[in-house]
Amino acid sequence: METISIIDSKNHVNEKVKIGVWLTNKRSSGKIAFLQLRDGSAYFQGVVVKNNVSEEVFKIAKEVKQETSMYVTGTIHEDSRSHFGYEIEVEDIEIVGESEDYPITPKEHGTDFLMDHRHLWLRSSRQFAIMKIRNEMIRATYEFFNKEGFMKVDAPILTGSAPEGTTELFHTKYFDRDAYLSQSGQLYEEAGAMAYGKVFSFGPTFRAEKSKTRRHLIEFWMIEPEMAFTHQEESLELQERYIAYLVQNVLDHCDYELNILGRDKDVLKRYTELPYPRISYDEAIKMLQDSGEFPDVEWGADFGSPEETYLAEQFSKPVFVMNYPKAIKPFYMKPHPTRDDVVICADLLAPEGYGEIIGGSERATDTDYLKEQIEKAGLNMKDYEWYLDLRRYGSVPHSGFGLGLERAVTWITGEDHIREAIPFPRLLNRIYP
Ligand code: 4AD
Ligand code: MG
Repeated sequence: METISIIDSKNHVNEKVKIGVWLTNKRSSGKIAFLQLRDGSAYFQGVVVKNNVSEEVFKIAKEVKQETSMYVTGTIHEDSRSHFGYEIEVEDIEIVGESEDYPITPKEHGTDFLMDHRHLWLRSSRQFAIMKIRNEMIRATYEFFNKEGFMKVDAPILTGSAPEGTTELFHTKYFDRDAYLSQSGQLYEEAGAMAYGKVFSFGPTFRAEKSKTRRHLIEFWMIEPEMAFTHQEESLELQERYIAYLVQNVLDHCDYELNILGRDKDVLKRYTELPYPRISYDEAIKMLQDSGEFPDVEWGADFGSPEETYLAEQFSKPVFVMNYPKAIKPFYMKPHPTRDDVVICADLLAPEGYGEIIGGSERATDTDYLKEQIEKAGLNMKDYEWYLDLRRYGSVPHSGFGLGLERAVTWITGEDHIREAIPFPRLLNRIYP
């Protein structure tokens, strides 16, 4: 008899198998017990019929407590009523680890309570589905960039530079020097691009943001591709192909998980159709003004959630908003060739109210311009000498972008809040567990 995972049940219909599981819920009558089981690969039901098992096994089935771990032995059958499609008719149960009274019962719990028990909450089926989809998106990311000829170049986490501005930095000591936790790997990826052409990083990034919103984490994972000999338009084409690839792979490989979440797959399918619409920042401002809903919005303003949501709602697919005012964007973006006031950049706004999922730009190549911008930003020139070297020695047009993994997971899974898109979220007032 084979020991299998629940997910492999389809290959063992009418066969006797053994599976290591935890109990998530149960109900029983005098003659039959239904055990809801999970093993990390899927969730399914074990049926224990009194007349078919020993008295001892039926007693265990009636009394076993939630989250007890055990081996069940039995025969796999089809079960058309469940998302999963199979169940096990249990013949034997062997307890592995007893469980105390489990805090997360099948009833509703408040968010704070669940967040305090995040280490256990991860076991529930919705969290399982989100983490599986996150994992698929990570897998597809590596596959996509490898297929496209990119090399992964890991950026440091302890740094002396502040690419995205100095207000949201996590300060730390580096022996007797000052250092920061990385806000973005971009500047290092630019060095990578000048060395290896097409590169990407994928790692944790940190923002000491005081904002408590559904979209902000303090620690989040960012995918940052950077491409030499590449202008912004080619970068936008890669961005939309990448997003469509993520969505397509989730559709292809996570049907079960999307069903658990109740995510509308027809809506997701629409996001695989390219190209995505592109509008300029100027047009975006005009749309907001014409809507009548944003009486105070003026050219030069940065967009908050309500503005991004309104703009995205005007389109049925993600939309690129291009060429923002120089004053509200970081120092490294390429200035517009004919306009003083905007830079060559784009944010990709996700539909359904999920806001910005990608920020990217073409990079400035002129050393003097960059020096000026570094000074204006109040940064310390000597921390950026290495970055300026990239312009001094064979500079080329180059572009790149950053995708916030958790923003993309929240959108693709259709969840309300970014805290459920990462195993252990770091939020304004939370570092436990
Ligand atoms: O727009 P951002 O700040 O861009 C950069 O960091 C660039 N250096 C990227 C690059 O060009 N290589 O951040 C990029 C993305 C955002 O679009 C968003 O998806 C995500 O990172 N992001 C956050 N996600 C969760 N919590 C936060 N606090 C985030 N801040 C940014
Ligand atoms: Mg941004």
